[in-house]
Amino acid sequence: MATTARTAGEGVLRGVPVEPMILAGCPENGVILDPFMGAGTTGMVAKMNYRNFIGIELNPKYIDIARKRIDATLVNKKLNFKLMGKDG
Ligand SMILES: C[S@@+](CC[C@H](N)C(=O)[O-])C[C@H]1O[C@@H](n2cnc3c(N)ncnc32)[C@H](O)[C@@H]1O
Repeated sequence: MATTARTAGEGVLRGVPVEPMILAGCPENGVILDPFMGAGTTGMVAKMNYRNFIGIELNPKYIDIARKRIDATLVNKKLNFKLMGKDG
């Protein structure tokens, strides 16, 4: 995975900024679906921009990492987040 701690904070995945796509493609309080969630950068940027998020990930280690990173992303608004792997 090419995402680093530094680029994740800026919402960049493999050199492509995530934030403009989230802002253009989903209204505030809408839901972003990432079926290949990885370490959860898209979920973090969704949360920063007051979007709800559903993330699906094959690798349980990444689900754990994504949950921690998204939990550590602070916003002052209640949002719904669901992270899913093969065991539900
Ligand atoms: C490059 S990462 C995606 C990065 C992510 N979109 C983000 O915002 O950080 C790709 C991820 O897709 C996962 N993946 C690959 N095939 C999958 C599948 N069939 N179902 C769910 N996740 C899958 C891999 O385990 C890997 O973690």
